Amino acid sequence: MTLILGIETSCDETAAAVVEDGSKILSNVVASQVEIHAQYGGVFPEIASREHVLKIVPVIEDALTQAHATLDDLDALAVTYGPGLAGSLLVGVNAAKAIAFARALPLIGVNHLEGHLYANWLDASADEKEFPMIALIVSGGHSEIVLMRGEGDYELLGHTLDDAAGEAFDKVARLLGLGYPGGPAIQKAAEQGNPSAFKLPRAWLRGTYDFSFSGLKTAVLHLVQSFKPALSEAKGQKRVPVADIAASFQAAVADVLVDKTRQAAEEFRATRILLAGGVSANAQLRKTMLARAHVPVSIPPIKLCLDNAAMIAAAGFRQFARGETRGWDLDVVPALKLQSAVGSRQ
Ligand code: KG4
Ligand code: ZN
Repeated sequence: MTLILGIETSCDETAAAVVEDGSKILSNVVASQVEIHAQYGGVFPEIASREHVLKIVPVIEDALTQAHATLDDLDALAVTYGPGLAGSLLVGVNAAKAIAFARALPLIGVNHLEGHLYANWLDASADEKEFPMIALIVSGGHSEIVLMRGEGDYELLGHTLDDAAGEAFDKVARLLGLGYPGGPAIQKAAEQGNPSAFKLPRAWLRGTYDFSFSGLKTAVLHLVQSFKPALSEAKGQKRVPVADIAASFQAAVADVLVDKTRQAAEEFRATRILLAGGVSANAQLRKTMLARAHVPVSIPPIKLCLDNAAMIAAAGFRQFARGETRGWDLDVVPALKLQSAVGSRQ
């Protein structure tokens, strides 16, 4: 039995988890800063790192207590070292190094995106390991289609040319006055709306697996403005149909994400599609993917789609099994890309 303590502080969640053999969650503690950042309409990096400093020790203690474990029971520590906010990543990496040094434990550096992927192996939500698989990773900073040929073997097929899917949700939510974080707010508003109410553009970028969401965002901006004539004509002002716009936007994003993922799965004869990242918590995306996919689809439970440390321990377990541990020179890499274990890692 291998017990790994995962630590995640790449953005605005301070998280620690104890996971057995890369799949059984013994504890999964997440301290969210969302209420603090909501007043700024997005993550305020300096405040995020200060909050991590305050929370990291109690969160790790909670994770150990809930797992009925002590530091003596651990086999290794796995920590996110990128991509993410430098000041936030530093808090987790230094906490992990301190514990690893004090207890002479192996230290594993985990790529946050690889963590999102391995959320699909937690609590056996996908214990089938039929490679190749196609993964759609959609979060606040990333929108990528990845071919996974085996454990730790990735090929990036496409990425966003402008905004990430989650970023588009957050920006459109702001345009609609729905607040932060935008994804859950849009989903909630869309429940009362008609997804066919407005015909919004889909950037297919045929012949590639790339995405673009900036045109869609601009189309929503123009649509909102069309309901708000100049102030001098205030009498003619119409109420913005927020629910219908939210539903139409959500449908446009889901259409493109799902159809391109399916195409990739067909081209590379994937036996399974994996959904990963914060945006995969979206109900419309989950429903559309399940309805249109031609192969089985794995989608982590909502809590594991969002940032957490159990997924970092799960990815770390695979690296540990391959003997990929890191020295005290492990540093944060804010712009880290998804890399294969085959070949050198940064
Ligand atoms: O993976 P994540 O928790 O953090 C990053 O690694 O970025 O993803 C956060 C993103 C945010 O943009 C948030 O608006 C989006 O995921 N998100 C959603 C939903 N829940 C979170 N987007 C659409 N629908 C949701 N239900
Ligand atoms: Zn994330």
